[in-house]
Amino acid sequence: MSLKSTETQYGTVAVSIHWISALLIVATLGSGFRAAYTTDLAVKAQLLSAHVPLAITVVLLTLARLAWWFFADRKPSPVADTPSWQHYSATLVHWMFYIVIIGMGASGIGMFVLSGAGPIIFGGAEGQLPDFWDFRPRVPHGIGARVMIALLVLHIGAALYHQFVRRDGLLRRMWFGAVDR
Ligand code: HEM
Repeated sequence: MSLKSTETQYGTVAVSIHWISALLIVATLGSGFRAAYTTDLAVKAQLLSAHVPLAITVVLLTLARLAWWFFADRKPSPVADTPSWQHYSATLVHWMFYIVIIGMGASGIGMFVLSGAGPIIFGGAEGQLPDFWDFRPRVPHGIGARVMIALLVLHIGAALYHQFVRRDGLLRRMWFGAVDR
């Protein structure tokens, strides 16, 4: 298996970015929702001190992934016999992931800067955390979180459909080691 993708398989770089991002996105969503729903401000600050670096890593990995596709690598061809509507829907979902992740990063940073919560979360400064709903980027951040969950359901649902209904080995292309067919 090479660093770059081939006609039939994703390369090591794409596979690594995909699965590291997947784990980090789950952790980012989990810490974000738990922070939003807790009423204990000390717990909220602790959760956000994990949420922010996790989220920034997800955004940076997404930018790295986009740069990788634009400048260094080409995606494998669609699996044989995939209807074109499924191929285009998958492409649309992938692009929506990129847009939502970058939008979540931007709205998160906006909320963070406007609220001045940084020193309380990371600097141990005295004071109470603000109510983030007082700041406009909180609204798109909350909407983006829900859109992202919808995209994850579609993305994982499509992967499971290929794996268990069509049995066409699509998931195998996004894993390490050579595809043996
Ligand atoms: C991939 C990027 C990100 C994802 C997936 C994400 C996810 C989430 C989720 C799911 C929530 C809860 C939303 C809700 O209940 O309506 C949330 C809230 C929050 N996020 Fe993010 N986030 C991301 C980026 C960021 C960044 C970069 C920052 C700051 C620099 C940030 C700061 C916050 C804050 C301050 C809250 C509000 C907590 C509250 O309302 O008490 N997020 N995020």
